[in-house]
Amino acid sequence: MELLKKRILEEGKTIGSDVVKVDMFLNHQIDVELLCEIGKEFHRLFAASNINKIVTIEASGIGIACIAAQYFSVPVVFAKKGANRNVGDNIYKADVYSFTKGITTTIGISKDYLGPDDRVLIIDDFMANGKAVHGLINIINQAGATVEGIGIVIEKGFQPGGDALRSLGYRVESLAVIKSIDNGKIVFGN
Ligand code: G4P
Repeated sequence: MELLKKRILEEGKTIGSDVVKVDMFLNHQIDVELLCEIGKEFHRLFAASNINKIVTIEASGIGIACIAAQYFSVPVVFAKKGANRNVGDNIYKADVYSFTKGITTTIGISKDYLGPDDRVLIIDDFMANGKAVHGLINIINQAGATVEGIGIVIEKGFQPGGDALRSLGYRVESLAVIKSIDNGKIVFGN
């Protein structure tokens, strides 16, 4: 998505050779007009997929998923973090290890909001090692729901998450794929 790549190049700040901060339009301050364009692009890509629910994970995924959902006219369910606390049995849970943060978080979705009739589009802001998406897939499988596709705003193509999911047969569409960060210069692979 050219508009997104332009914004990443113009405003993104790199940290070392593997992190790009996009706090100014995506992860902290949010450019809602840009999110609308992102939502339209996800809809263009997945319109034929007969999706009836979007699933994401808190926090940054929620805004993106909600705006995209307007174009699909479907509800959004977000996995909550901290589901290892006393939340009862009415919840599907999965453990997600974050390489970026070095911690494992238990995420959960209530059994009330995900079930066998759901055909799900997973949406998230970043894909690095793909652990968050694997956690969501685990939960969707527990619910007997179907993963129709995975929409990612920024994929770090030099980390294995996206390609590992593609090789498992999932349809992963990333609007910007960063191939490398070389001396602060971002190089796209798409
Ligand atoms: P993974 O799910 O693909 O395995 O990624 P990882 O655990 O490494 O990422 C942990 C968190 O860091 C995720 O947010 C992810 O979106 C974010 N992240 C990973 N790489 C980058 C990057 O280069 N730039 C930015 N801005 N974020 C990155 P989180 O902490 O789980 O969520 P949130 O509460 O911010 O949504």
